[in-house]
Amino acid sequence: MDITTAAPAGSLAEQQIRTLPPSFRWGVATSAYQIEGAAFEDGRTASIWDTYCRTPGMVHEGDHGDVACDHYHRMPEDVELIRSLGVDTYRFSVSWPRVQPGGTGPVNVKGLGFYDRLVDELLAKDIAPWVTLYHWDLPQELEDAGGWPVRDTAYRFADYAMLVFDKLQDRVREWTTLNEPWCSAMLGYWEGRQAPGRQHFPDAIHAVHHLLLGHGLATQRMRAAGKPEHEFGITLNMGTATPATDSIEDREAARRADGLGARIYLDPLLRGQYPADIVADLAERKIELPIRDGDLEIIAAPIDVLGVNFYSGHVFSGRDEHGNTRDAEGNPVERQIPQGKPVTAMGWEIVPERFTELLVRLSKDYPGVPMVITENGSAFVDTPDAEDFVEDEGRTDYFRTHIGAVAAARNQGADIRGYFAWSLMDNFEWSYGYDKRFGIVRVDYQTQQRTPKRSALWYRDTIRQVRSGT
Ligand code: NOJ
Repeated sequence: MDITTAAPAGSLAEQQIRTLPPSFRWGVATSAYQIEGAAFEDGRTASIWDTYCRTPGMVHEGDHGDVACDHYHRMPEDVELIRSLGVDTYRFSVSWPRVQPGGTGPVNVKGLGFYDRLVDELLAKDIAPWVTLYHWDLPQELEDAGGWPVRDTAYRFADYAMLVFDKLQDRVREWTTLNEPWCSAMLGYWEGRQAPGRQHFPDAIHAVHHLLLGHGLATQRMRAAGKPEHEFGITLNMGTATPATDSIEDREAARRADGLGARIYLDPLLRGQYPADIVADLAERKIELPIRDGDLEIIAAPIDVLGVNFYSGHVFSGRDEHGNTRDAEGNPVERQIPQGKPVTAMGWEIVPERFTELLVRLSKDYPGVPMVITENGSAFVDTPDAEDFVEDEGRTDYFRTHIGAVAAARNQGADIRGYFAWSLMDNFEWSYGYDKRFGIVRVDYQTQQRTPKRSALWYRDTIRQVRSGT
């Protein structure tokens, strides 16, 4: 493929991308449940997602991850695909119920063997493996015992993390404990839009604390057992929360959205305390974080890298459509106000300038922690041609402007070391099932054929350009 597939010369984003250093890390990302399939093979037991998918009405058209991209059976071919994209890093997650069926007890040798082979295959092709230990697939038995709202789950997670770490630490340098704990806690236990589909706000707040505690316990144990070259971190999904107007209620709505969306994770992780304003908001609702002595020291265990997932930014009003500042339960209103910007197939507004804003803000408010963009990407409705090739201009443009936004943030002082595209290939998009396609590689789910889209070719050529400094 010639170089003409790269960013149009002269565009601002293109100029910014060219300021990225040759040492910048480039990757593609996936997660276990979204691609692996083989849901009940080699001793794997059910996760909360297997259960949730089988609950009528929860997932688009009753889709599930039983087969997904069949990656479990096609791993060497997929690693070759990754190599062909010219990236240096592959971020994947390990399925807890595959490695430790039921979430307690000994390791499942066959299940862990899959990741052992995956790591070897990647290294043989000069691709660095970047492991995420938890990308939402809690063993169902642990949910039956109370799930993340229960303290014991944090300890179970740290035990599981050590099973994986012991086996792979000799070859894997980078370890992410949790992916997007906001989704696990808020979508899983409050909004119910993700597994396990519960809807109880105090449980969600308890889940926040126990997810963070699990992260801290696992980080401390891995660090103690590891070598100086290991790098540990966590991945948070963050957007921006901008007040719709300068009114006090809009500013308060944005403050609360940012508090529960970002600071309730960032502050304990990086400053050793929960944000006082959010603790006070919760107290007003008679909710307390279940903190025990010593927890905050564990949660604030030093990390080497903060993973940032970004998709969109939001504008908030403190009033509902009728002008009320309180909802039916008496809680203050936070309403997202669409800004009329172009949207992706998810309905998410495309606002790359907010990405720069977020990254610069993180670098100022939480200095000293290098960042890596562990996910960024977009779903669009793809129209394949007769050869299954997709000319995905919208997705390519999204990458161009967002990678440009990362470069712009770097040039404003943010310490960002790498960028991983979400996602390597189309996959199971949680409650949207297979309806939404985020891949830079198309997957034909009938034949499991993989076909790189235009965005994949653009990404590959752009990486090549940045590396060569041309
Ligand atoms: C974030 C999640 O980590 C990933 O699993 C998901 O597919 C993407 N966002 C897109 O929604």
